Amino acid sequence: MKQFTIELDFLRKAVFLHPPIKPFPPLAVHVNVGQQCNLDCVYCWRRDPDRAPANNSVQEKVGYDLKSLIDQLAEIGASTIEIAGGGEPLLFKDILGTMKYIKKMGLRGHLFTNGILFNEKNTEALIDMRWDFINFSLDAHSQDVFSRLKGSGKGSLSKVRTNVRRFAHMKKAKHLSSPSIRLSYIINRLNFNFIEEFIDLAISLSVNSIFFARFKQFPFNEELRLNEREEKVAMQIIDKNTGKLKKHNINVNSYFQSPNWPVRKFCVIPWFAPFITDDGVVHPCCCQLQKNMGDLKKNTFREIWEGEKYTQVRKRIRRQDWFKACKNCYLYIS
Ligand SMILES: C[S@@+](CC[C@H](N)C(=O)[O-])C[C@H]1O[C@@H](n2cnc3c(N)ncnc32)[C@H](O)[C@@H]1O
Ligand code: SF4
Ligand code: SF4
Repeated sequence: MKQFTIELDFLRKAVFLHPPIKPFPPLAVHVNVGQQCNLDCVYCWRRDPDRAPANNSVQEKVGYDLKSLIDQLAEIGASTIEIAGGGEPLLFKDILGTMKYIKKMGLRGHLFTNGILFNEKNTEALIDMRWDFINFSLDAHSQDVFSRLKGSGKGSLSKVRTNVRRFAHMKKAKHLSSPSIRLSYIINRLNFNFIEEFIDLAISLSVNSIFFARFKQFPFNEELRLNEREEKVAMQIIDKNTGKLKKHNINVNSYFQSPNWPVRKFCVIPWFAPFITDDGVVHPCCCQLQKNMGDLKKNTFREIWEGEKYTQVRKRIRRQDWFKACKNCYLYIS
């Protein structure tokens, strides 16, 4: 994880100072394995009317040759595949086979999940295949907040807590340090007052890191946005607890605390993190699903990554000619 962070920081600086037109191999390829989800988070972009509506059935397969994509990414020297995106990846039928193949091909593997569907068997499988990183999108410290934010029933937070804890226990029993476990917390009106309680929960679960983020705004989640005073409160709570986290060896990101936010100066995403939807279409980032850089059913990844459409997007970002979707985007660096 550390090595990846250094690479990322180095790349950000390099691209920021000298943005190239011809790209290097992507660092983090976001692969979306379906729109299906077993929760319905109030802030989630899946509620955007332009996206597919939620369903909680198992997704059988994606609409393109995912194995060939993994082969191609390994061949061009991509660093990491991030399984996240449109829905809950653990509802994808061949998720374990796909993850195993990613590791077999020598790529780093990251998984974003709500964590409900872990059990003894899939936890052990992930540890044994040396999966690198799992982000549990927790967002809450109590069942009440968890239910209000995620629309889930009684006992669901306790289930996730058990599942996170199981990773720590099994890793210890096997003398392994991966996967690195992170809890994320999308700060909003319903949870900003409970950041300290969330930090205590993270400590009690022996996780490796926590991640605080603002959320990408849409008209449907506007009322969750913090006002200036609430933002200040949230930042003060994080600041106050940074020492405690350090003492417990838990890393915390600094984006939320950035004094420059939200002054956008540059965005490096089109240089290192393509977003691929389950139909095989490549997008420049998760916020621009209407922008089609190419289709993996028709072209190789390299053809798309180095193609004219991607070049045009990079040229626009280089001259800071922002897209409509860049408004309120939380992914750029400032
Ligand atoms: C869309 S989810 C898919 C994976 C899985 N279902 C999960 O919840 O982790 C991937 C990540 O996007 C985040 N996310 C969803 N809607 C968002 C928004 N409007 N702004 C910022 N992050 C968002 C979630 O918190 C989660 O960490
Ligand atoms: S669990 Fe993930 S995909 Fe599902 S609604 Fe919540 S954030 Fe969105
Ligand atoms: S700033 Fe624009 S290009 Fe960059 S990630 Fe956000 S929406 Fe995409």
